[in-house]
Amino acid sequence: MARAPGMSVRLKLTLSYAGFLMVASLLLLAAVWLFLLRYVPAEAQRTIGGFVPGRDDLIRAFAPAAGVTLVALLAFGLLGGWILAGRMLVPLGRITDATRRAGNGSLSYRIELDGRNDEFRELADSFDAMLAQLEAHVAEQQRFAANASHELRTPLAITQTLLEVARNDPRGVTGELAERLLAVNARAIELTEALLVLSRADQRSFSRQPVDLSLLAEQAAETLLPLAEEHGVTVETSGDIASTSGSQALLLQLTTNLLHNAIVHNLPEHGTVQMHTSTSPETVALTIENSGEPLSPQLVSTLTEPFQRGSERIRAHHAGVGLGLAIVKSITQAHDGTLTITPLAGGGLRVAVQLPAAPAPA
Ligand SMILES: Nc1ncnc2c1ncn2[C@@H]1O[C@H](COP(=O)(O)OP(=O)(O)O)[C@@H](O)[C@H]1O
Ligand SMILES: [Mg+2]
Repeated sequence: MARAPGMSVRLKLTLSYAGFLMVASLLLLAAVWLFLLRYVPAEAQRTIGGFVPGRDDLIRAFAPAAGVTLVALLAFGLLGGWILAGRMLVPLGRITDATRRAGNGSLSYRIELDGRNDEFRELADSFDAMLAQLEAHVAEQQRFAANASHELRTPLAITQTLLEVARNDPRGVTGELAERLLAVNARAIELTEALLVLSRADQRSFSRQPVDLSLLAEQAAETLLPLAEEHGVTVETSGDIASTSGSQALLLQLTTNLLHNAIVHNLPEHGTVQMHTSTSPETVALTIENSGEPLSPQLVSTLTEPFQRGSERIRAHHAGVGLGLAIVKSITQAHDGTLTITPLAGGGLRVAVQLPAAPAPA
């Protein structure tokens, strides 16, 4: 946006300094007049001791000197003000410079203003912090885009290979090949849908309504019962009504993702899953615990990163797309909640989602 050119801050400060100096000097002169000259008799007097000058004589002698002093003070005020303002505004120049660089896309530059903690230092420090956060965010986005492309390319590349084989095969597309193509395609669709859910949760573009987490837990358990039976896992649900406000669809997705993980990343047989909902005055919580392989805290801390999967061995069994927990994290954050993932001592995982409580529906 084009703005009308204005006076520079340095000039404004200089004029203010000089202006104040002038006002102060004039006040001083006024005080001299008020408290001294007024009491001097108007006429000169001759006394026995000699000559006492009158008020007019004094003013005549004093006025030119006062004028010269005023002009000198004005020059002093302008010059001193200009120098002082210049020195004060140096940090501002550096901050402006950094803002321009950031605007041109260079996020790695930092102001690193030194010296005492003052307003400029505070501004520069928070600007540096903002740049660091932006830089990390952009890097994360780039990593995400690269990973997503890579993951999407994999099924397409497999499809390509399968089709090439079919082209060279005199029998054409056999039943087995069609099955494999279908499976690869289903995986690509699953991945794309997961990406869509993730972006929807990140944008927070959903309407809020009262949601009871215990109902969602029941619903997810019912939907995934066949999967649990297939994996030989028993699922228990317990707990109170836990009302929060948010998107029913997204919170169901969150619950389903967590339960799905708890079932498929479980022991090969006789696995268990406990889902529990609870309320406190401020928050409601959904906690899911499952048996399974022992997990190291280091590994657990990386699991919510997009496309991060556990050990390769687990991966070979259940080829998930690796977005399940990333989606859970995004949905939790979009609902102003917290996600806590802790490995259990005997193996397996505890995942707790805490959300702000909403007044229970009447
Ligand atoms: N409940 C759980 N128990 C044990 N490991 C889990 C559990 N949930 C997730 N994980 C680990 O975290 C990884 C990432 O999970 P997720 O983001 O859902 O991706 P995916 O399930 O597609 O592999 C999984 O590959 C698994 O190793
Ligand atoms: Mg998963």
